[in-house]
Amino acid sequence: MEVIITPSAREASAEAARIAAALIRGKRRAVLGLATGSTPLGFYDELAAMHARGEIDFAEVMTFNLDEYVGLGPDHPQSYAFFMREHFFSRVNIAHWRTHVPNGLAVDIPAHCVAYETAIAEAGGIDLQLLGVGTDGHIGFNEPSSSLGSRTRLKTLSERTVTDNARHFASAEEVPRHVITMGVGTILDARRCLVLAFGKQKAAAVAAMVEGPITADVPASALQFHAACTLLVDEAAAAKLKRVDYYRWVCANKPAWQRA
Ligand code: F6R
Repeated sequence: MEVIITPSAREASAEAARIAAALIRGKRRAVLGLATGSTPLGFYDELAAMHARGEIDFAEVMTFNLDEYVGLGPDHPQSYAFFMREHFFSRVNIAHWRTHVPNGLAVDIPAHCVAYETAIAEAGGIDLQLLGVGTDGHIGFNEPSSSLGSRTRLKTLSERTVTDNARHFASAEEVPRHVITMGVGTILDARRCLVLAFGKQKAAAVAAMVEGPITADVPASALQFHAACTLLVDEAAAAKLKRVDYYRWVCANKPAWQRA
């Protein structure tokens, strides 16, 4: 896994946006896998700013979000569909039909999950998957003990994730207990993964993801199997990594052709 440590979340978000923009410029019909939460807000701001300056065109891009709360429709302010419209889709030139977020109101959830996987496959697979990490080591909403080969399905949130996400709701009781999430296997199928993690509350999960054993106990550790995974972290989130000197050395000695 490539580990890039930046002085602040702002620099990491700008670098992640630069990577996404380079992909889109090289492939107009790029398929992006997107995440919600606090972590990618700066990334969406950067992409929206690049679009406003005329630097990227999203007209032919297609997107698939990682997850959605079961029971929340797209007009619920805490739904991820709402989040995506507010923070990204409404700020760039992407047609609604090209964006996909799992349907939290699906009546037949297993059938909806199969259809979501089929839609990703029919789009040609995900070129770049953006990810945040939970303090418990989840990616998407694949909580500890998730199968590392899992596909899109219903999951029950851990108590820790309910507590972490309660800040977006009036109380922890209002946080839905169930979600639809891409599986770890779905995420590993993306051609490139870009993981963002900021702040000291993510330091333990980041260390376990990068340097710990590969285990369903830390679903993010499955990314060690991915052939093209880049982690962008600020100093605080990197604080528990053991090989920081090596990661910095690799960045400083990157061949010129890899910097492009
Ligand atoms: C969100 C998602 C989650 C978050 C993770 C971190 O779509 O899939 O895995 O990335 O819970 O959330 P924040 O960024 O709020 O710390």
